[in-house]
Amino acid sequence: MQSVIQISNLNKIYQGGFQALNNINLEIKKGEILALLGPNGAGKTTLISIICGIVNPSEGRIEVAGYDIISQFRETRKRIGLVPQELTTDAFETVWDTVCFSRELFGKKRDDHYVGQLLKDLSLWEKKDAQIMTLSGGMKRRVMIAKALSHEPEILFLDEPTAGVDVSLRHSMWQQVQALNQSGVTVILTTHYIEEAEQMADRISVMNKGEILLTESKTCLMQKLGKKQLSFELVEPMAAVPESLSTHRLLLSKDNRVLTYQYNTNDEETGIVALLEELKRHQIEFKDMHTQQSSLEDIFIELVKSK
Ligand SMILES: Nc1ncnc2c1ncn2[C@@H]1O[C@H](COP(=O)(O)OP(=O)(O)OP(=O)(O)O)[C@@H](O)[C@H]1O
Ligand SMILES: [Mg+2]
Repeated sequence: MQSVIQISNLNKIYQGGFQALNNINLEIKKGEILALLGPNGAGKTTLISIICGIVNPSEGRIEVAGYDIISQFRETRKRIGLVPQELTTDAFETVWDTVCFSRELFGKKRDDHYVGQLLKDLSLWEKKDAQIMTLSGGMKRRVMIAKALSHEPEILFLDEPTAGVDVSLRHSMWQQVQALNQSGVTVILTTHYIEEAEQMADRISVMNKGEILLTESKTCLMQKLGKKQLSFELVEPMAAVPESLSTHRLLLSKDNRVLTYQYNTNDEETGIVALLEELKRHQIEFKDMHTQQSSLEDIFIELVKSK
C-alpha cells in the first residue's frame, strides 16, 4: 500500500522541558484504519496535533501526501479532517451553519447537497436547525465529525471519537467510520476501548511514554491473542504426561493435578476433539475443565508494563 503520512525521527519537548514524544517513526498507509492505543499521557494527542499543525514539533519531519507539514502547511492541512478529543463547538450556532462555516474556512465552495448528505449520514438531519447547545453529548460529538468532514478531507483523525458515547451509538459510529473508510478516507483513531480497535483497525500502534512500542496488523495481533488454554482438573494426580500424548503439547501443573492444553482459536482444527478422545483412551478422568484466553487487553497491559 502507498503511504499517505510519513513521520521520521519526531521529537516533542513541551515548553518547560517535558518530552512528550521520543523519536517517533511511523508510516501511515493510504486507505487504512490505524488505531493508536496507549495509556493516559502516552502522547497520542500530541502526535495527532503535530500532524494537524496545531502543535509544533521540536525535531523531525512529517510529510502528508508528499507535502511537508511545516513548509507546505496549506497543502497538508486541507487534506486532513480532525475530530479533537475536547469538544469545542459554538454553542449558539445551528448545526447547519457551523458545518457550512467549517467548509468555507478551508476555501471550499458552498455545497448544500454535500453538507445535507453528511448530516443525514451522521443522523443529524433532524437537528440541522437546532442550536448546538441544545444537543446531547453524543450528538455534539457527531457535529464535530461533520465539521471535520465538511471540506471532504482524504485523511480523518479521530481522537477518542466515542468517549462518552452510548454502546448502540458507538456501534453505529463504527459503521459510519468504516463506510467512510471504504469510500477511500484514511482513518487514524485513538481509543481506550480495546474493542473499538479490534473492531475497526487494520493496524494497531501501541504508544507509551512518548514512544511507539509496536505497530502491527490487527490480524497479526489477533493471532497472538488467539491463544487459548484449556485446563483439565484431574480426578487423580498424574505423575507425568504419558509419552503417547506428547504430540498434544500438554503441560502438567506442579501439583500434578491440572493438565493444560494450548491451542490457537484461529486454527481451523483446535485439536480439542482428538485430545478428548485420547484422554478417554488413556482413562484419564477429570472433574472439571475451563478455558482461558489472552486478550488484546492482556497483550496491551503486558507491553506497557514491561516498558
Ligand atoms: N501543552 C502542554 N504543555 C506541557 N505538557 C503537555 C502539554 N500537552 C500535553 N502535555 C504532556 O504531554 C504528555 C502527553 O500528552 P497527550 O495529551 O499527548 O497524551 P494522550 O496519549 O493523548 O493521553 P490521553 O489518553 O489522556 O488523551 C502528557 O504527559 C501531558 O501532560
Ligand atoms: Mg489524548
